[in-house]
Amino acid sequence: MDIKFIQFQSHGDERGSLVSLEDNKNIPFTIKRVYYLFNTQEKVRRGFHAHKELKQLAVVLKGSCRFMLDDGKEKIELLLDNPEQGLYIESFVWREMYDFSDDCVLMVLADSYYDESDYIRDYQEFKELVSA
Ligand code: TYD
Repeated sequence: MDIKFIQFQSHGDERGSLVSLEDNKNIPFTIKRVYYLFNTQEKVRRGFHAHKELKQLAVVLKGSCRFMLDDGKEKIELLLDNPEQGLYIESFVWREMYDFSDDCVLMVLADSYYDESDYIRDYQEFKELVSA
């Protein structure tokens, strides 16, 4: 599976760091939605879905968490712990998130509004769709 991390330019000086995200510039789509996960529990595993159309970019703003990405052929585990990079997640990729640090703030940029009909929440259905 081709894992795409996008490295952001960080404007850092002695006052701190600043990262700017601009759609169709350093973000490879038009941003329609932003959501973020926080107060996540360390032992919790979440996600467990893929999308038919949606493309997303995940950025850990604080702390760390792990992603498991699965394109139906291969499963890859990744640690996200750097607010200067984003993990691009294409459609038809099953994702699970876990090992959230206490302070984790996970921001996700999405190219569409929330639409439950775009979700594939059944792993068997996902496997059938990607192998078709
Ligand atoms: P859920 O899909 O379970 O989150 P995760 O994939 O991280 O485990 O979403 C939790 C709830 O939030 C669920 O009721 C749907 C709702 N939700 C929205 O209303 N808008 C959104 O943009 C997202 C991502 C979820």
